[in-house]
Amino acid sequence: MSQAPQPPGAPVVRREGREKVTGTARYAAEHAPPGCLYGWIVPATVPGGVVTATRTADALAVPGVHTVLTPDNAPRLEDPDDPILSVLQDDRVPHRGWPVALVLAESLEAARAGAAAVRVEYRTTGHDVVLTGDHPGLYTPEQANGGHPAVRERGDAEAAFASAPVRIDATYTLGGLHNHPMEPHASTARWADGHLTVHDSSQGSTTVRDSLARALGIDKDHITVISEHVGGGFGSKGTPRPQVVLASMAARHTGRPVQLSLPRRYMAAVVGHRAPTVQRVRLGADREGVLASVSHEIVTHTSTVAEFVEQAAVPARVMYASPHSRTAHRVTALDVPTPSWMRAPGEASGMYALESAMDELACALGIDPVELRLRNEPAAEPDSGRPFSSRNLAACLNDGARRFGWHERDPGPAARQEGPWLLGTGVASATYPVLVSKSAASAHAAPDGSYRIGVNATDIGTGARTVLAQIAASVLGTPPENVRIDIGNSDLPAGSVAGGSSGTASWGSAVHKAATGLAGRLAGRTGPLPPEGVTVTADTARETGEESPYARHAFGAHFVEVAVDSLTGEVRVRRMLGVFAAGHILNSRTARSQFIGGMVMGLGMALTEGSTMDPVFGDFTENDLASYHVPSCADVPDIQAHWIDEDDPHLNPMGSKGIGEIGIVGTAAAIGNAVRHATGARLRTLPLTPDKLL
Ligand code: MOS
Repeated sequence: MSQAPQPPGAPVVRREGREKVTGTARYAAEHAPPGCLYGWIVPATVPGGVVTATRTADALAVPGVHTVLTPDNAPRLEDPDDPILSVLQDDRVPHRGWPVALVLAESLEAARAGAAAVRVEYRTTGHDVVLTGDHPGLYTPEQANGGHPAVRERGDAEAAFASAPVRIDATYTLGGLHNHPMEPHASTARWADGHLTVHDSSQGSTTVRDSLARALGIDKDHITVISEHVGGGFGSKGTPRPQVVLASMAARHTGRPVQLSLPRRYMAAVVGHRAPTVQRVRLGADREGVLASVSHEIVTHTSTVAEFVEQAAVPARVMYASPHSRTAHRVTALDVPTPSWMRAPGEASGMYALESAMDELACALGIDPVELRLRNEPAAEPDSGRPFSSRNLAACLNDGARRFGWHERDPGPAARQEGPWLLGTGVASATYPVLVSKSAASAHAAPDGSYRIGVNATDIGTGARTVLAQIAASVLGTPPENVRIDIGNSDLPAGSVAGGSSGTASWGSAVHKAATGLAGRLAGRTGPLPPEGVTVTADTARETGEESPYARHAFGAHFVEVAVDSLTGEVRVRRMLGVFAAGHILNSRTARSQFIGGMVMGLGMALTEGSTMDPVFGDFTENDLASYHVPSCADVPDIQAHWIDEDDPHLNPMGSKGIGEIGIVGTAAAIGNAVRHATGARLRTLPLTPDKLL
């Protein structure tokens, strides 16, 4: 590592990389305090109803079992801010897998054996778990996820569509998807002298602390939540999950430390999922491909526990110029686990449909799909009329087309063959909003010339420590190695959640402000620092409280080549190339990992991943990694991520946009469009498994 100040964007290596690859980085379940009890949840085995009796005698007779918590003896919770955290409080079973008891034992094995011995009786009330496009329970919610209005209308989309010379009217159907981070959700909780300390696998321990304070009815100063290393989350750890409440209440009840780790097979029921969607897209255009009407209507499900509405129509408010538009969401509450955030909620599913429909329009018109998108570039954000702070979608499309060799393509379907393989290429656009949340940070200068930054950021695998060190070092004019970064502890200055691709912008803005304040204080000084050093703290309440007059989004373009086996229907992706415009890239090494990580997850969405709802059983059937197929190395082809450096002064002091999610946006559409090009077959559902292609 160089000992000189680093230029912005330098590929500084990940600080905790060695700890991670040598196994010395410790995760939430690797902190087992002396005297620790282990928990195992008893999940409801019916998909809806009430518990009529819970018989615990057999479980308590299992050697090593200490306690069985049920709604009869579990501590009362005060005021959980999320109804999914209201566990062991009553006898209702809102969906299969809902926790109905918690067994605590001296070992994990004893807890598991105890859980198997708990006898639960239910009165079932019937269940409704299958989303259909015309489900009778559908209603228009007030808002979709992210606070977006459920419905937006401009002009008269219906009439403009009806009178358009070229029309696409297509319905795309997506099943549920699950995040499945490498590290399952886990919490280790202990109480000492009235203070609760929890190691939790979360994307934001300030949020977990505040939520526990409300649920347990104690002051947040009496809680410390530590999320030092986190093995992925993709949104499923963005809000506190039941295991952290259960572990904390069990530790309080027993007076012993408690560890509760969710088995992989149990995650689908309690950590959220990308909700299924039925999406109708109608595009009306003239014969040159200029859009007159864009309509994107979403049907999705939520649970009876809480309302979560996948905001899949929102990207259509951003993408293409059109005088007439309607974007709308409807939802129905089914007897299913509560959906939640999964990498680019809204954009990932919505852009699959919109970008597939744009390809259908290009095919109908005989216009190149890159060219069709360029013809519909808006001068301002279509929905709001606000100017873009920067929008380089056209540059991404053009640069990507050049790098990929797009224009060598014969546009006709099934034009290229190689033995049994049909070859095709596809393109799709990507977008993701620029989000930023309030954070605080401290910056400390020590007398020995080193610096220390404190901010409750979370590193979910992104390299947050590294980029925050770069930000601080660039302000302080010192090499990044000279800056120590403390993150992952709720006693540090409050940080926002590692979600919404907003982490670096949110924590980085606070770090930048604190470091700037510190640099100012140091500049005014002469002589050595006092022995305690100098510390400056700052927060971004003011900056994040102001609404930007600009529409701020990252953009991108995906180019994909596929081969489809005409005998078996197998789809192989041969090449993926993404070009992104996301402001300044702050660390080219870790940024590339984020982009290609998102692209690989998009490949999974296109080809291998899918959660099937069993209508009789009433739950998702793929609940382990043997049945829920994430791409393995052999599935991942030649993959390239490039970017266009944007100089956008309307973002934050670093000039950065988020990069964690845009890689998954549009990817599945590009693959589907390539499959259409290869075969002539237009599928409007995912994943593109052989049964659908034959
Ligand atoms: Mo991401 S789904 O915002 O953690």
